[in-house]
Amino acid sequence: MSQYVAAIDQGTTSTRCMIFDHDGAVVSVGQKEHEQIFPRAGWVEHDALEIWGNTREVVGQALARANIATSDIVAVGITNQRETAVVWDRNTGQPVYNAIVWQDTRTAAIVEQLGALGGGADRYKDKVGLPLATYFAGPKVRWILDNVEGAREKAEAGDLVMGTIDSWLIWNMTGGADGGLHITDVSNASRTMLMDYRSLQWDEEIAAEMQIPLSMLPAIKSNSEVYGKGRKAGFLADVPIAGSLGDQQAATFGQVCFTKGMAKNTYGTGNFMLLNTGEEAVPSQNGLLTTLCYQLGDAKPVYALEGSIAVTGSLVQWVRDNLGMIKSAPEIEDLARSVEDNGGSYFVPAFSGLFAPHWRSDARGAVVGLTRFVNKGHLARAVLEATAYQTREVLDAMNADSGVDLTELRVDGGMVGNELLMQFQADILDVPVIRPEIAETTALGAAYAAGLAVGFWSSLDELTAKWAEDKRWDPSMDGAERERLYRNWQKAVTKSLDWVD
Ligand code: G3P
Repeated sequence: MSQYVAAIDQGTTSTRCMIFDHDGAVVSVGQKEHEQIFPRAGWVEHDALEIWGNTREVVGQALARANIATSDIVAVGITNQRETAVVWDRNTGQPVYNAIVWQDTRTAAIVEQLGALGGGADRYKDKVGLPLATYFAGPKVRWILDNVEGAREKAEAGDLVMGTIDSWLIWNMTGGADGGLHITDVSNASRTMLMDYRSLQWDEEIAAEMQIPLSMLPAIKSNSEVYGKGRKAGFLADVPIAGSLGDQQAATFGQVCFTKGMAKNTYGTGNFMLLNTGEEAVPSQNGLLTTLCYQLGDAKPVYALEGSIAVTGSLVQWVRDNLGMIKSAPEIEDLARSVEDNGGSYFVPAFSGLFAPHWRSDARGAVVGLTRFVNKGHLARAVLEATAYQTREVLDAMNADSGVDLTELRVDGGMVGNELLMQFQADILDVPVIRPEIAETTALGAAYAAGLAVGFWSSLDELTAKWAEDKRWDPSMDGAERERLYRNWQKAVTKSLDWVD
């Protein structure tokens, strides 16, 4: 009888379940999108109950498509959009408010007030590795407690708990209000601004300053261990839940970046480049995050430097949904190929402010360099190029922080099917860009972490041996042209700043 590992990948726009066999091959997939709720400019929410419902549905789809029974699944791994925060009532299982998504900027005033206590944006950086920014989960919880009627009283009475999406799913999978496990893992915890990255414990002083009761916080676990078993009848009942990582850490794991100095870049809703820095946590001087990469059971944690870019793939979706310039996201490549170059136009997609390496919540989107000559094709190019230039900013910061220049970049995610973008990326970075055979690295990483914990796979070496190159793009652009384009991009970025008072 064959055995499999399931991975649940709860992302920003959709939820997927993928079933993997022992070779690491994808056996089947279930997928469902959920609603993006935009109540006001700068606000982004999800319905946490819809996400939980979709999770059950996609697991059912994946099992049915593979024609396998729950009993053939030896372990399930969870991976999730990070920083998105849910607050729910532990007695009823009802969220008190929609999940506030990582892209949401409503906490700008809260993070400013915290910075004004002293230290500015770097107030907690030495402990948590992060600058004060709207991106992270802790201030989102604070906003809910401050703004939802009765929430603070209930939280102080011990009735409310908080979690990122991993916690929300695992709590529901393991029984919900009937004794569900309230846990998170080191990678997700490292995105709350509440965990000390050295001790891997919640920092009581920061929680007190953010006015978040400690009783709301989940227990912090490693990324690969048996946390418990599914207890929801008909939904992975009795299957060990044995791995959990934030999606970018999972992609790093799925790309088998197990050695210090290895890096990957994922092209999803946003872009996230992670560089494994080994057992050493490297503080950033250049606008990157010091974050947990992974911890396997009792082993020492492995750290990463991360460059987070808020808007890349979601810019293509915006061009499709808000402008109607294309009918489907892949069409952007044909439109971009209809012209030779960007025609002088640059698009800075600062929809959630700018993340790494700028951390400017006052930035907003800008299109510059327009003349009467510019057409849809040029704008499509500017849209795709924005992803590549933002990645160059992050790579430069990473080289500066680590003191070593990356010699190649492993890539994955939805946009890596776009050949024009991948070639342009290699050209703008001046390093080869490499796509692996299994491009579903996020789900794969979660499956690997879960499979390792139950002995389905034996070692990191065994996983490393499964990685294989599918395609490589070598840089071919003239150096002077590369620097001209990048200089123009940097000028465009200055035009996007100072938009919000
Ligand atoms: O930090 C946000 C990130 O985890 C979201 O990833 O793939 O859902 O856009 P994705």
